[in-house]
Amino acid sequence: MVELAVNLFDDAPRHELAVAALKAEARNLNFHYGGFHALKDISLPVYDHSITALIGPSGCGKSTFLRCFNRMHDLYPGNRYQGEIVLYPDNVDILAPSVDPIEVRMRISMVFQKPNPFPKSIFENVAYGLKVRGITRRDEVEAKVEEALRGAALWNEVKDRLHDLASNLSGGQQQRLCIARALAIDPELVLFDEPTSALDPIATASIEELMLELKERVAILIVTHNMQQAARVSDHTAFLYMGEVIEFNDTKKLFTMPDKKQTEDYITGRFG
Ligand SMILES: Nc1ncnc2c1ncn2[C@@H]1O[C@H](COP(=O)(O)OP(=O)(O)OP(=O)(O)O)[C@@H](O)[C@H]1O
Ligand SMILES: [Mg+2]
Repeated sequence: MVELAVNLFDDAPRHELAVAALKAEARNLNFHYGGFHALKDISLPVYDHSITALIGPSGCGKSTFLRCFNRMHDLYPGNRYQGEIVLYPDNVDILAPSVDPIEVRMRISMVFQKPNPFPKSIFENVAYGLKVRGITRRDEVEAKVEEALRGAALWNEVKDRLHDLASNLSGGQQQRLCIARALAIDPELVLFDEPTSALDPIATASIEELMLELKERVAILIVTHNMQQAARVSDHTAFLYMGEVIEFNDTKKLFTMPDKKQTEDYITGRFG
């Protein structure tokens, strides 16, 4: 376990800081889309068993930052990372060219804004990542699919129709299926990019509840446009603006007594 050496929150009790373990950490991360410098020298911790929210105006780099964590940008030529994203406890820089992006994606999975199930059955959607991991024994696959669907609070609704097409599920169910797919590989960190923006308030509430349960098992990094959502679910929040982290703070502190004037302007709606 890596222990925090510095006191990030002046008003936080010391004993909490002493036990806060890092799951990952961006260190002086820069990212370029060809000639466009999208992320500027970002250093940010992601704590284990907690939810870290990324907020900021459209185009500030939230999705770009999130995608660095599972090496999604590798798929396009001209994209360039500089700096490090260190994953703990093994202290590995997941951006290092020697690190296989497929291995990174087995440890860090992602849930997207729009539910994007594969055009396959419910069962096959969840079993997909297991195949990639080399898990093929039928009984083991079945057990893991059930466990992931239970973890995503979907099992009871689908247990009698596992071989139906995933596209027959409702939007909220499809998003929980995508969460089950992301969980099936036993990730250590799950990335969520605006996971509820396509959902109604009831489906949104169930996903939020689910994230609060999931953090018992994993670390969560979430991009959200919805500041109430960030305030409701997250433990830490980073405010990004034009590719830079303006403020990283304890969520409660950031939304009640931000350290930076720009953060205050943004959360009070007086921004730009
Ligand atoms: N493939 C790309 N090529 C070039 N520039 C890109 C690419 N994708 C994103 N950008 C630019 O990088 C910047 C950050 O984009 P990003 O999608 O990370 O923003 P965001 O904070 O997620 O915004 P939103 O809240 O609208 O989703 C923007 O200026 C965007 O135009
Ligand atoms: Mg985005």
